[in-house]
Amino acid sequence: MSKLLVVGAVNVDLVVETDRLPGPGETVVGPTVTRHGGGKGANAAVAAARSGAHVRYCGAVGSDDMGKSALTELRDEGVDVTDVAVLDEVSTGMALIVVDPRGENQIAVGAGANGVLDADVVRTAVRRAAGWAGCVLVSTEIPADAVAAAVETAVAHGIRCVVNPAPVLSSMTGLVSSAPILTPNSSELRILHGMLADGPDGAESSAETQVIEVAARTGAPVIVTLGADGVLIADPRSDPVTPSDLVTLPAGRVDQVVDTTGAGDTFNGVFAAALAGGSTVVDAASRGVVAASLSVAAIGARTGMPRDEEIRRAL
Ligand code: ATP
Ligand code: RIB
Repeated sequence: MSKLLVVGAVNVDLVVETDRLPGPGETVVGPTVTRHGGGKGANAAVAAARSGAHVRYCGAVGSDDMGKSALTELRDEGVDVTDVAVLDEVSTGMALIVVDPRGENQIAVGAGANGVLDADVVRTAVRRAAGWAGCVLVSTEIPADAVAAAVETAVAHGIRCVVNPAPVLSSMTGLVSSAPILTPNSSELRILHGMLADGPDGAESSAETQVIEVAARTGAPVIVTLGADGVLIADPRSDPVTPSDLVTLPAGRVDQVVDTTGAGDTFNGVFAAALAGGSTVVDAASRGVVAASLSVAAIGARTGMPRDEEIRRAL
C-alpha cells in the first residue's frame, strides 16, 4: 500500500463559468457561482487518496466555517488531517476562479491561513511521517520557510520528495542541494530554468533543453506537464543528462474539456502516490498523466478526479 504525506495549501474555490475570460478592468458575468474544495496541496491529497493511497495532509485552515467544511471534505475522502493547523484570527484560503467554454481558467487566491503555515508544524508532520511515508509531496502556495522545512526534513529522514513548484518561489535555488523531484508546468519550467540553469545570455531555449539543464542541475528527475500534450520527463541516469534521457508520455484523449483547474494537482497526487508505492518515475508518471486527463471532464478541481479502477481502465 502506498503511503504519502502532502504538504501544501487548502482553499475554498468559488467558480464562475463565463463565455470568455475577463481582460484587465473588465467585468464578465456568468449564470451561476459554484463552491468546490480547492488548494493545490489538498487537491493533490484527494487525487492520491482516490487513486488508492493512504494519505496524510499537512496545511492550515482558519477556525471558521470554511475551514471546518474544508477539513470535513478531506476526511470524507479518507485523507488524514491530524497534521492540519487550525488558526484563529485568519480566514481559510479562498480562490476566485473563472472558467471559459474551452476549460481554460483564471485564478486569484487569497492565501489566508495557507500564508502563515508555520514551518515547525510542517517539520513535525514530516518527522511523524518518517518510517511511514514512501514519499512527501510539497506544493508551494505556502511560505518559503515551510516549503524548505518539508524538503529538508524529508531528505534528512531519507524520504523521497516531490516538489510541485506552483508558484515558483525565489527560494527554490536553496533547495537544489536536496535534489527534489520537480514537477513544473511549461511556464514554471521556463522560470526555473532562468533561476537554476540559464546561460550567460539568458536566451530562450526549447522545453527539451530546459528540462535537461534543470535536471542536470538538481541531479533528480524533472517531469514537465504540458497540458493536452502530456508530460516530458528527464530522468538523469547519466552525467551529463542527454536527449536520450528524455521520455514523453501523451495525454489521455478527452472528448470534451470542461475545466482544467486541478489537472496539475491530479497529476502530482497520483504520481507521488505511485512513487510512494514503489513505482518507477516513468510508470508513476504514466498513471499521473492518465488520471489528470480524466480529471478535466468536469467543473471543479476535484470533481473529475478518478478512482483507481478508472485509472487502470484508462491505462
Ligand atoms: P493546473 O494549474 O490547472 O492544475 P497545470 O498547468 O499544472 O494545471 P497542465 O500541464 O495544464 O498542468 O496539465 C496537467 C496534466 O493534465 C497534463 O499532463 C495532462 O495529463 C492533463 N491535461 C491538462 N489539459 C488537458 C487537455 N486539454 N486534454 C487532455 N489532458 C489534459
Ligand atoms: O490548481 C488548482 C488550485 O489552485 C485551485 O483549486 C485553487 O484553489 C488554486 O489553489
